[in-house]
Amino acid sequence: MSQPPVIVDVGAGLIKAGFSGEDEPRCIIPTLVGRHKERAVLSGIIGGRDTYVGEQAQSRRGLLAMRSPIEHGVVTNWDDMELLMKHTFNNELQIFPEDHAALITEPPFNSDVSKQKWYEILFESFGFDKVKLVLGQLMSLYASGRTTGIVLDVGDSGANAVPVAEGFVDLHAIQQIGTGGRDLTNHLVRMLTEKGYTLESSGEKQISRDIKEKLCFVSPDFEGQELLPEQKQKHYILPDGVQITLEQELYTIPEILFNPSMIGNEQTGVVDLVKESISKVAMDLRSRMRENIVVCGGSTLFEGFNSRLQTEIKGQQNLYTIKQVKKQGKQSTWYETKKEKLDETKEQREERSLKGAVNVTSCDNPITSAWLGASIMGCTHSFPNEWLRKINF
Ligand SMILES: Nc1ncnc2c1ncn2[C@@H]1O[C@H](COP(=O)(O)OP(=O)(O)OP(=O)(O)O)[C@@H](O)[C@H]1O
Ligand SMILES: [Mg+2]
Repeated sequence: MSQPPVIVDVGAGLIKAGFSGEDEPRCIIPTLVGRHKERAVLSGIIGGRDTYVGEQAQSRRGLLAMRSPIEHGVVTNWDDMELLMKHTFNNELQIFPEDHAALITEPPFNSDVSKQKWYEILFESFGFDKVKLVLGQLMSLYASGRTTGIVLDVGDSGANAVPVAEGFVDLHAIQQIGTGGRDLTNHLVRMLTEKGYTLESSGEKQISRDIKEKLCFVSPDFEGQELLPEQKQKHYILPDGVQITLEQELYTIPEILFNPSMIGNEQTGVVDLVKESISKVAMDLRSRMRENIVVCGGSTLFEGFNSRLQTEIKGQQNLYTIKQVKKQGKQSTWYETKKEKLDETKEQREERSLKGAVNVTSCDNPITSAWLGASIMGCTHSFPNEWLRKINF
């Protein structure tokens, strides 16, 4: 087996695949399987083809109902997952699996059933001889050149904070939420519907995703913000030529990551996710964690994400108090809720921020960092002992 190991980072939104030792994946394909909405009518015309995967599905999005086989990090449709892998190995990488080992990323707390299913597909359906499942977030940490730190990965189907010390993952301290980029896209669809633009079909949702990726940003201070003129309004041209104007959607959508209760998810946001995870690691490691917060995943690409995370983890954000202000009209009395900035002395503010150094850094390419870490791992000298062989499965 002289061929390099195949590296696949299986994301809920994007599959990244290529060869160990290379700097970039050979392909990044959407984790989507599309089926004709009007199967009976169209199958005769297009020659009976029923399913499309990856880019083929994207380019026919108007005709297809599209689904991802991964929900909240868990594979929920193995037949579709296998179709996507077949497309990846046969069409994109064009390999004979029996000539390669396969290194595949898995999410934290991947179930034994899911691991078994991956081995079954890779050994039996495709014929790989050696397989290894690795934790995606650990690979991102390696790609950043570290073996100690906490990885905040905000992908398509959720967010994970994974602390690692000297290459060992602290499983008890991992924190997860099921709010990710996909939820932001869906909420933008709702906000746009309220504005009179309907993008609700699974194909049209991809337009909403594009708007989110190109235009939205994280506000430095959502509660008390003052926007620059160019941040107040942005425009997007829909495929039919209609121009949409976006205003508060631009900063409200990414804010969901910091406050998932905005969409009814009773979960902590990314700031508390990191803080809680750090509070669960051994006390003498906490400052090293705070100094090595490594951010990855496509949903951290919003402009302003890192600086907001850094500010809030450091505790430098402005403090507010909520006050009930009594109002007196001619006929009645009522109370109005008012937010007021708390007066804090410069010294108090500095003291609050000096609790320890906080350093947030992004992986060079947050979308492909897990893939890159695995690409490096796959060709290290110690790795040959790590593979699970088909004969031992
Ligand atoms: N420039 C961008 N700004 C904001 N979000 C982006 C940007 N580019 C991609 N995304 C979002 O990032 C997500 C994909 O990122 P990533 O590839 O890290 O996730 P994944 O690995 O597929 O998902 P998961 O890790 O949850 O399994 C999608 O929700 C996508 O819309
Ligand atoms: Mg991912």
